[in-house]
Amino acid sequence: MKTIIEPFRIKSVEPIYFNTKEERQNILESAFFNPFLIHSKDVLIDLLTDSGTSAMSSNQWAGIMQGDESYAGSPSFFRFEETVQHITGMPLVIPTHQGRAAEKILFSILGGKGKYFVSNTLFDTTRANIEFSGAEGIDCICEEGKHPAIPAPFKGNMDTDVLKKIIEKKGAANIPLCIITVTNNSGGGQPVSMQNIREVKKICTENNIPLFIDACRFAENSYFIKLREKGYANKSVREIARELFSYADGCTMSAKKDAFANIGGFLAMRNEELAQQCRNLLIMTEGFPTYGGLAGRDLEAIAIGLNEVLDEHYLQYRIRSIEYLTNKLIAAGVPVMQPAGGHAVYLDAKEFLAHIPVEQYPGQALVSALYLHGGIRSVEIGSLMFGKYDEHKKMIPAQLELVRLAIPRRVYTQSHIDYVAEVIIEVFENRSEIKGLKIFEEAPTLRHFTAKLKPVE
Ligand code: F0G
Repeated sequence: MKTIIEPFRIKSVEPIYFNTKEERQNILESAFFNPFLIHSKDVLIDLLTDSGTSAMSSNQWAGIMQGDESYAGSPSFFRFEETVQHITGMPLVIPTHQGRAAEKILFSILGGKGKYFVSNTLFDTTRANIEFSGAEGIDCICEEGKHPAIPAPFKGNMDTDVLKKIIEKKGAANIPLCIITVTNNSGGGQPVSMQNIREVKKICTENNIPLFIDACRFAENSYFIKLREKGYANKSVREIARELFSYADGCTMSAKKDAFANIGGFLAMRNEELAQQCRNLLIMTEGFPTYGGLAGRDLEAIAIGLNEVLDEHYLQYRIRSIEYLTNKLIAAGVPVMQPAGGHAVYLDAKEFLAHIPVEQYPGQALVSALYLHGGIRSVEIGSLMFGKYDEHKKMIPAQLELVRLAIPRRVYTQSHIDYVAEVIIEVFENRSEIKGLKIFEEAPTLRHFTAKLKPVE
C-alpha cells in the first residue's frame, strides 16, 4: 500500500517561532511547570489539545461570510439544525458556545444532591459540571481500558456488569442519565463498539434510564467501528454514526473537535419537555435558541465541518497519522497506550518515569520534559487532573498517569510528527535525569488548569 497522504493542500500558513532550550527553561519556570500557563508563541508544536485548534477548510471560511447574524430565526441556524438532525436523527437541537455549556445546562436540570451519572469515563468538564450540581459521577470503564500496554479493539467500552451493579446499588431512580463518551478521551481516545452501546442501551431501557452520548469525536469513533467491528466494513461512516446515535436519547457535543470549528457546541435530544427546560436555561446563560452563544457564522462553519468530518479519505488519514506516531514510539520501546487512539497519542508516564512516585506527578514531569527538550506542549491526564485528597490530605491518585499528545485536525504535516517522535525518544533515552514535581498552589476544582508546581529537590 502507498503512503496515506494528507487529503488537502495548504492555502494559508501560520509561522512557528523557534526558541532555545535555555529560553524554554526560563519559560517553564515562569509558567510554574504548568503547560496551560505557557504562551502559545513560545510553543513549537502545540499538542495541548485537538479542541478548537483545527484548520478550517476553504468551504468553512466561505461559509463564515454567509453567516446571517439575525438575533432570531437566522437561516444559518436552520442549516446547522438540519445538519445535526440529519447526522444524529435527533429532532431537537440546541446550540451552545461549546461543549461544557451544553453540559452545564443539562446537569443543572438533571443533577443535584443524591443523583449519580454513570459513564465509561466522564471528561473533566463533564465531571466538574456534574459535581458542581451536587451530583456524583461514576466511571465504569471495561477491564481492557485500565491497562495501557495491552491492545484491544474497543478499550473505551463500558463495563456492563459494573453498570448493572451500580444501578442496583444506587437505584435507577437516582440515575438521571447514563453517558457514553465517544471516543473515550480521558481513557486514551479509545473507541466504544456498537455492540457495547447496544448493550448499555438495553440495560438503560430495562431500568428506565435515558442514554446520552458525549459526541465530541463521534466520527473518529464511527470510523473505528468501520475498521474493527464485524458487520460494519461495508457501511458508510455516516450510516454508522446514524446507528450509533439511534440508541441514544440525546447527546452533548463540542463542535471544537469533530466539527473542525474553533468554537461551538450543541445539545440534541428527543424529549420535548427536557429540551424546553434546556432552552429556558439557554436563554438565561447562552442566548436565544436560534444562536445559543454563537455567531451565525460559527453555526455555518459547524454545519459545513460536520459534513466534512464524515469524508472517509479524511478519516483514514486522521486515524493513520495518530497510528504512525504511536507505532514509531512503540518501535523505540516508549511505553504508550495501545492501540493508537483517535485523536491523540498517550504516553504511559507511570512506566516512562518509573522512578517518580505518583505523588510527584510523573505525568506533569514528563509534560515539562517534552517542552524543555523540544518545545512540544502536551497535557497530563493523571493525578494532577483527577487526583483527590482523602481526609488526611493524602492524595488519592488517578487510575492512570497519562500524557496526552493531542493532534490538531489538518494542522501538522508528517515532518512535524517525525520531529515529535524524535523528541519523545530522546527524552525517553535520558529519562533518569527527570525529577518529580510538587504543587504549591491549586484551585479547589479543575486544578490542573492553574496549579503552580516546582521540582522536588
Ligand atoms: N467532552 C469531551 C469528551 C471532551 O474532550 C471535551 C473537551 C468536552 C466534553 C468539553 O468540550 O471544550 O467544547 O467545552 N475536551 C478538550 C480537550 C478541552 O482538550 O480534550 P468544550
